Amino acid sequence: MLRTTALTRRRLAGVLNYEDARRAAKRALPKSIYQYIDAGSEDELTLGWNRQAFTDLSFAPRGAVWVPDPKLATTVFGIPISMPIMTAPCGGMRLIHPDGDLGIAQAAHEAETIHVSTSASGFSLEEIAQVPGPKFFQAYRFSNQEAMKSLVRRADAAGYAGLVATIDTSVGGNRERDFRNGFSYNMRINLQNVVRMTPRVIGHPGWVYRFTRDGMPFKLPNTADITPDGKPMELSALTRTGAESHSPDWDDIAWMRANWAGPLIIKGVLTVADAQRARSLGADGIIVSNHGGRQLDGAPATLRALPRIVDAVGNDLEIILDSGIRRGADVVKALSLGARAVLVGRYPAFGLAAGGTAGVSHVLERMRIELIRTLQLLGCHDIHDLDASWVTDRSTRPLSETEPELVQR
Ligand SMILES: Cc1cc2nc3c(=O)[nH]c(=O)nc-3n(C[C@H](O)[C@H](O)[C@H](O)COP(=O)(O)O)c2cc1C
Repeated sequence: MLRTTALTRRRLAGVLNYEDARRAAKRALPKSIYQYIDAGSEDELTLGWNRQAFTDLSFAPRGAVWVPDPKLATTVFGIPISMPIMTAPCGGMRLIHPDGDLGIAQAAHEAETIHVSTSASGFSLEEIAQVPGPKFFQAYRFSNQEAMKSLVRRADAAGYAGLVATIDTSVGGNRERDFRNGFSYNMRINLQNVVRMTPRVIGHPGWVYRFTRDGMPFKLPNTADITPDGKPMELSALTRTGAESHSPDWDDIAWMRANWAGPLIIKGVLTVADAQRARSLGADGIIVSNHGGRQLDGAPATLRALPRIVDAVGNDLEIILDSGIRRGADVVKALSLGARAVLVGRYPAFGLAAGGTAGVSHVLERMRIELIRTLQLLGCHDIHDLDASWVTDRSTRPLSETEPELVQR
């Protein structure tokens, strides 16, 4: 992992929240890489709805309550974590910073939480497994059931504590910002690419230096043993449409259940029907996710989808939520509506861009600080006390019902 310089520390000191981290990442990265993280698909409806759902909820605080030490610790699938925030599986992180997935896993470990490692990591799953602390492995299918089986067996042998099956990525989402930026990931070194890329990266010498020294890691090391030619796939393979799905299907999930003894978690559930199907196949949990608005545009906001899913399967499955979490207050809202914990994707990625491993640690600690203060201001002693009574839906209830004092004035 790269050393944290005084400059990095100064930069991170100015990062108080998501928007600060996003701005710092925008400065640090070539436009195409920054937008790869930031973008949603097509008209970015779902990307916007995810945020809208959080802003549509207001809190119902209990005043005159002193909360000296709000309790954030919980468990997921029996594994203790110090706060209900985990780091999401995100492909392409080594393009952002050489610390890449190792840095995110290390920062998650230092925060005493769980990192979910993607199949599309820039380091092999075995290398990431060397970072201390429990981790989950997120399995793609890579168009081929044998490839998926091999990944799952390797993850088992490497000691991953949980298996996550992402079901919303049969094909890559149509991210037009990536298309416009010519971000095809497979930037092989040839004259055409050098001519094309130079003007785009010239303003980011720090990134160019680190990326070049890191050997321009565009490949997916996890795929080295599953391609016919024995060479790792390019990241771009995931963005294409193929003859077969990149995501596991329900038959694959049944295979996983039969061959994975630990927790099995289905990521990308947005309907009661899929949640029930996951339960009937023996999954231990689900992640209510729309991939951060990067896959099906028009998929519902996860916070809106959550309550019905909790009603249907909440007694049997642990339910995690992601997509649109930017603040500690958002975590409190998700937990109030029945999530056990959340995943964050873009925020740690922007932290990584701003300061490598230290940047990821920094943004996780910012979220922890916000979470503590939100609970104190709410008058809530323990995240396990959160339920729907702590929030009010501003979008569906008239002002007179929710804020009578404002109406009287
Ligand atoms: C750059 C990037 C790459 C991603 N790659 C993956 C992936 O490889 N596998 C996966 O299951 N989800 C992937 N996701 C989705 C995240 O796991 C997560 O669902 C999403 O980022 C949550 O939304 P948020 O970014 O608003 O926190 C990716 C997200 C981003 C931003």
